[in-house]
Amino acid sequence: MSFRKQPRGFASKAIHVGQEPEQWKSMCVAPAIVTSTNYKQDAPGVHRGFYYSRGNNPTRSVLQKCLASLDNAKHGLVFASGLGATTAILTLLNSGDHIIVGDDVYGGTNRLIRQVTSRLGIEFDFVDPTDLNALEAAIKPNTKLFWIETPTNPLLKVVDIEEVAKIAHNRSDILLAVDNTFLTSYFQRPLELGADIVAYSLTKYMNGHSDVIMGAATMNCDDVFDRLKFIQNATGIVPSPFDCYQVNRSLKTLALRMEQHQKNAIHIAKYLEKHPLVEKVLHPGLPSHPQHQLALKQTYGYSGVFSFYIKGDLESSKKFFEAIKLFTLAESLGGYESLAELPVIMTHASVPAEDRVKLGITDTLIRLSVGLEDSDDLIEDLENALNASQL
Ligand SMILES: Cc1ncc(COP(=O)(O)O)c(C=O)c1O
Repeated sequence: MSFRKQPRGFASKAIHVGQEPEQWKSMCVAPAIVTSTNYKQDAPGVHRGFYYSRGNNPTRSVLQKCLASLDNAKHGLVFASGLGATTAILTLLNSGDHIIVGDDVYGGTNRLIRQVTSRLGIEFDFVDPTDLNALEAAIKPNTKLFWIETPTNPLLKVVDIEEVAKIAHNRSDILLAVDNTFLTSYFQRPLELGADIVAYSLTKYMNGHSDVIMGAATMNCDDVFDRLKFIQNATGIVPSPFDCYQVNRSLKTLALRMEQHQKNAIHIAKYLEKHPLVEKVLHPGLPSHPQHQLALKQTYGYSGVFSFYIKGDLESSKKFFEAIKLFTLAESLGGYESLAELPVIMTHASVPAEDRVKLGITDTLIRLSVGLEDSDDLIEDLENALNASQL
């Protein structure tokens, strides 16, 4: 069995949608970077779609249209960061509302919900979204949003989006938001599976060059779009035109990059799975992954992020990180360069310690973001580091 078959047209949309030269007087082929903050009006209140760049900007519009098309969505909106997009989506809620959040989401999302939106009176529960009964049982009369990531971070559990959407939509007022950062719209399109909102840290694969911080949300519902567009302007969480240009440019190679990330990562995952100094590999594309069949059913492929447990203890992990050379010890993921990190101390340090233990985020869990280097060079680097970890 293989992943879902990618329909034709993704790369063409990434290169052309929203980027028609006819929209510019100059007929420029590469979208213009419009830095103007304000726009001349034909008469008071009569403008040509643009009045002030916090509300709307031509370069941002190009990117938003292109992003929406990649998710087969009606609407797209970009924000100043991935967490900015999350913040905007959370402000759809009111004080007294309740959110159900996946128990293994990005640490910054966890922190935002526990330490910021909770202070505004938004209640929350963290639940394992692979346990559909637990998810259903956690619903309260004031539940308004499910927030999930799939695969989860850093444990790569695959969540059944269609089933979670059914549970959310049994009650007409619960929205399902899926953070699709790990897979991108190339490998997974949650709106096709029943989600209401797709959230992204564009900082990761969608930009892919480790040089822009940005986020996005896509959706089909006009009402959700209108409310989020209002929030985008009202809160001012907007990215710069130059950054929008950069991300739009990067999207043109998204399909190519994702194919290569996938190839490199599965090659390395298979190598690690056979390695005597590795305890376990967590990669949804491996038949050994507990939800491998679900991954094949709902996604078009798998990216370059996966985790593994090395044998030993915290000291072994530290020695591993001292020895890596081609992999860079750094947070983040999804760039052309390979990264390795220790979630327990780095990306997931803000998750309460007892939750980390329950989840399996241990001292020997290492997360990789496999880049676009030659995979045999990366394997040589890992071999040296694994051997060093036991010295
Ligand atoms: C899955 C996921 N969602 C959201 C974010 C937040 O994105 P940003 O860093 O662009 O604010 C991250 C950042 O690492 C992430 O990994």
